[in-house]
Amino acid sequence: MNSFIKPLKIGSFTCPSNLVLAPMAGITDTPFRILCIKGGAGLVCAEMVSAAALQFNSPKSIKMLKTDKAEHPLCMQVFGANASAVADACKRAEQQGADIIDINAGCPVKKVNKSGAGCVLMKTPEKIAEILTAAVKSVKVPITLKTRVSLNRTENLAPLLTKIAQDSGAAAITLHARAAVDVHSGPPNLAFLESACKVAKIPVIANGGILNAQDAKAMFETGAQAVMIGRGAIGNPFIFTEITHTLKGENFQTVSNTQKVEMFLNLVEENVKFYGERTGISRSKKTVGYWLRGFADAACVREKFVRCESLSQVKEILLKAIKENNNLL
Ligand SMILES: Cc1cc2nc3c(=O)[nH]c(=O)nc-3n(C[C@H](O)[C@H](O)[C@H](O)COP(=O)(O)O)c2cc1C
Repeated sequence: MNSFIKPLKIGSFTCPSNLVLAPMAGITDTPFRILCIKGGAGLVCAEMVSAAALQFNSPKSIKMLKTDKAEHPLCMQVFGANASAVADACKRAEQQGADIIDINAGCPVKKVNKSGAGCVLMKTPEKIAEILTAAVKSVKVPITLKTRVSLNRTENLAPLLTKIAQDSGAAAITLHARAAVDVHSGPPNLAFLESACKVAKIPVIANGGILNAQDAKAMFETGAQAVMIGRGAIGNPFIFTEITHTLKGENFQTVSNTQKVEMFLNLVEENVKFYGERTGISRSKKTVGYWLRGFADAACVREKFVRCESLSQVKEILLKAIKENNNLL
C-alpha cells in the first residue's frame, strides 16, 4: 500500500516527513511551531516577514526572524516586490537559522498587494522569476515559492508558475489550490494541482482545506510530493501524527478534547513566556475557538477566556472547564 508519507527533499535539505505546517500570520510563531514539531510536522513555516520592513530595521519584523533550536526543520517566509530587498531579507533569514526560505506570491491581503507583493505577482510571472533568481543567488539554503493555482478560478496558472519557479532555481513550489478571489474558502481545485504536478521537476507541496487523512490522501493523489496544513493544525497540532498513522494504516490514540485544551493551556503559558503576559494572552485569544471545538460548553468558556487579562485568570477558567468536561465523560 502506498502510504504517501515519506521524507521530503527540498534541494539540499531533507525534511523527515512530507507533512508541512503552513505559514499563518499571527499564528505560526515560535511557541506554535514548536508544538507542531512535537505534533509530527516534518517542516514548519514561520509567518511572512516584510522585506521592505526589514530594510527599515522594523523591530517587530526583526523579532519575527528570531528562532528557537526546538523548531527545526524551519522555513521562514519573506514577501516583497523588490528583488534586491527580498534577497537582503533572505540573507537575514538564513543568518537567523532558516533551513529553507519561502517567497510569498499568493497572499491576497490588500495592504500586501498594494505594495506589489503577494498574489498580484501572479499577474507578472517574469517579476516572480526576477525575485526568485535574486533570492536563490543571495543564500545557500534552498528557496521555495508559495503561490496559488489561479487568480480568478477559471484561468489555471499552476503549470506556468511551476515552470517559472523551477527555471528560476526554486527547490520546491507550494500551491494553495484555491483562487486568490476565494481567499481561504471553498474546496481545493485538484485538477489544477494535478496539471502542475505533471510538469513539475521540483516537489509540489499541495495546500488547501486539509482537515484529515482523507483530505491529505486526495491531495497526494494529484501527484504532489508533500501536503501543507494550515487551519487544520490550529487547535489540533497532532493532526500531523494522526495523518501519518492513518495513511500508514497504523493504530494510534486520537487526542481527546480534554487533552487539546490542556495543550492550549500549555501554549498560552509558552506565549506568555515568549511575548509577556499582555501580548501572550491577546495572541491566544485569536485561536481559542479552534481549541475548544467539540468541548463541553465551548461558547461560554470562550466568552470568559476573551475577557481574561492575566495568566492566573486563564488557568482558572481552563482548569475549571477541563474538570467539568471530564465530569461529563
Ligand atoms: C490567519 C491566516 C494567516 C495566514 N498567513 C499567511 C502567511 O503569512 N503566508 C502565507 O503564505 N500564507 C498565509 N496564509 C495562508 C495559509 O498558509 C494557507 O495557504 C491557507 O490557510 C490554506 O490552507 P488551509 O486551508 O489548510 O488553512 C494564512 C492563512 C490564515 C488563515
